[in-house]
Amino acid sequence: MLRLLHLLLLLLLLPPPGTPEPPGLAALSPGAYPQAPDLLYADGLRAYAAGAWASAVALLREALRSQAELGRMRRDCGVRCTAEPGAALPAAPLDVPGPDSRPRLAPGAWEPLLLRAALRRAECLSHCAVRRLGPGGAARLRVGSALRDAFRRREPYNYLQRAYYQLKKLDLAAAAAHTFFIANPKHLQMREDMAKYRRMSGIRQQSFRDLETPPHWAAYDSGLELLGRQEAGLALPRLEEALHESLAQMESCRAGCEGPEEQQRDEEEEEGTGNHGGLYEAIAGHWIRVLQCRQRCVGDTATRPGRSFPVPDFLPSQLRRLHEAHAQVGNLSQAIENVLSVLLFYPEDEEAKEALNQYQAQLGEPRPGLGPREDIRQYVLRSLGEKRQLYYAMEHLGTSFKDPDPWTPTAFIPERLREKLREDQEQRPWDQEPPQPKPLTDWKDVLLLEGVTLTQDARQLNGSERAVLDGLLTPAECGVLLQLAKDAAEAGARSGYRGRRSPHTPHEHFDGLTVLKAAQLARAGAVGTQGAKLLLEVSERVRTLTQAYFSPERPLHLSFTHLVCRSAIEGEQEQRMDLSHPVHADNCILDPDTGECWREPPAYTYRDYSGLLYLNDDFQGGDLFFTEPNALTVRAQVRPRCGRLVAFSSGGENPHGVWAVTRGRRCALALWHTWASEHKEQEWTEAKELLQEPEEKEDEEEEKEMPSRDPSPEPPSYRLQRVQDKSEKPPRVREEL
Ligand SMILES: *[C@@H]1O[C@H](CO)[C@@H](O)[C@H](O)[C@H]1NC(C)=O
Ligand SMILES: *[C@@H]1O[C@H](CO)[C@@H](O)[C@H](O)[C@H]1NC(C)=O
Repeated sequence: MLRLLHLLLLLLLLPPPGTPEPPGLAALSPGAYPQAPDLLYADGLRAYAAGAWASAVALLREALRSQAELGRMRRDCGVRCTAEPGAALPAAPLDVPGPDSRPRLAPGAWEPLLLRAALRRAECLSHCAVRRLGPGGAARLRVGSALRDAFRRREPYNYLQRAYYQLKKLDLAAAAAHTFFIANPKHLQMREDMAKYRRMSGIRQQSFRDLETPPHWAAYDSGLELLGRQEAGLALPRLEEALHESLAQMESCRAGCEGPEEQQRDEEEEEGTGNHGGLYEAIAGHWIRVLQCRQRCVGDTATRPGRSFPVPDFLPSQLRRLHEAHAQVGNLSQAIENVLSVLLFYPEDEEAKEALNQYQAQLGEPRPGLGPREDIRQYVLRSLGEKRQLYYAMEHLGTSFKDPDPWTPTAFIPERLREKLREDQEQRPWDQEPPQPKPLTDWKDVLLLEGVTLTQDARQLNGSERAVLDGLLTPAECGVLLQLAKDAAEAGARSGYRGRRSPHTPHEHFDGLTVLKAAQLARAGAVGTQGAKLLLEVSERVRTLTQAYFSPERPLHLSFTHLVCRSAIEGEQEQRMDLSHPVHADNCILDPDTGECWREPPAYTYRDYSGLLYLNDDFQGGDLFFTEPNALTVRAQVRPRCGRLVAFSSGGENPHGVWAVTRGRRCALALWHTWASEHKEQEWTEAKELLQEPEEKEDEEEEKEMPSRDPSPEPPSYRLQRVQDKSEKPPRVREEL
């Protein structure tokens, strides 16, 4: 009922037909209190799904506006209430030991003072929120983390662009599309849409503008561009603005940390921590979570829309550019202030010290009163104060803290934690992003251990991150696995699965057996237990080798194991032109026209390494081949044989396909590995358990469905459901080759 009212209200507020939409996100209902963003968004998607484009636009924009207003309110009220005199702590308890070094306050007497200040602050914040947002304050507008993530990904703009397009507002459609695309540069569909927009005659280049550029990025980019053109004088105001806006953005982000939804999310992340114990444990736990969140704002501010990783050392690097630019235009006092600010972060920075000496020499007479910038001094002091408390809590209360900054002085880090932190530091996300090819040092030992030889390395295979290894299976083992595949296919035939055509070509039959299905069939007596057990053992063997060879420092998990046989269908092989398996990459969608590979669903994006372990060679055709990214030029070819493993990274650097199998039956074990432990193959463990305990569980085995395909990208109606029902997890989808 309430939602219907919202809808009606907003429909009334719609601009009359014919009036041009204002660009950007001007208030549609000026003066009115904002509505809850999640309700608006759900209504907007409902209108969108019903094809009511004008109301969809109005509702989506109102949702964006209300979400932005919530953020602004937090920041402004935070600033105002910090300055509220009654909400400050009296000076006395802050400097506890008196001049006679005896505490001025009786033990515990600080409690009422602290409490009074906290109560005043809370009162101030809630009044401020009500003034800005209307009755109910921030609690009425509270949204869950799913929705906040959707907004951060700029999802509303994807709907907006299509709605605008339907309304024939091409300029706004292009702007919304551009806005979405910036934050989702790998979105394949939007890429195509953008290309279409560019070809449309009604759209000018200026239409492609970002409706949401954070001001600090706009200033930063134009400042850097001017610097690149040797225009230090013009660059300076933009660089100053970038720093100023970065600090302001940081404040907004920090203010958001006090919001109820941030707490809720953190509690989800760190289940159980801080919720036990009494008043002080609870206060400490809550406070620590707020501090953790505030410290995360460094990365948040330094991460461009659409990127996963922050610009490293964002503030110090801006200060470096500033002092250099000021020196270039001859403003030495400003250059000194900025270089002194760099030294606040890195007191031992040689380059900064040298620059400082040089500026001072140039300036001639020493200028008293020249110090680091006040905004940066306060920033560093406050940040260090927070880090001190977080490290203390880490050492004594066992809470976690990922320091986002590389400049934290070692003295701040408790000795006991330093070693561990050094390891964590090495795993800072931006260091970790591109998986570096590892030097091959100790994998050879593993190979020898397994009696395996490296037949061809990446160079011999004319590519990167690929290898052919031989000797993983004895002929007897190949025999056992081939028998397993045959028995399983026959068991399948008895239950009606016979004669399944390959999903890739009509000229071949295709039988696939998962480890769990094999275990279930073994339990039912339809296949030999030995074969099912060997399947598990061999997949683990492949995983060990693949990890040793490609990823010695980071564990790989099996994410999917599939025993696959392809059989030529007799009488259908004449003049056959197609492949047994078309050229593809395993974790991304290959675009042969551009040679790019989009790592997004429906590709299995979490796959990191692929392995194909062959069981036989008594068939015609069926060689594996790697191509150039154009999917046409063959670079390397591998002939299957018993015990041969082809292992390679799953990305766009390894497009591959299989030539047609024109006679006989070709069987191989296909395996995919992942670094993401959450994508570890559950069925592997289940199968292992099933094969260990000899009790009967006969009813279960036909219950498991044949694996189903990944769903295609969600249609809007499905998303709508998800937004409405935020708590529901998307269903776990089983996969198929
Ligand atoms: C240096 O810059 C500051 C602030 O922009 C300005 O007030 C001052 O006049 C400048 N000094 C010189 C010597 O240009
Ligand atoms: C690599 O390329 C060379 C030259 O094109 C070719 O002779 C060779 O067979 C290729 N290697 C494989 C494993 O196919």
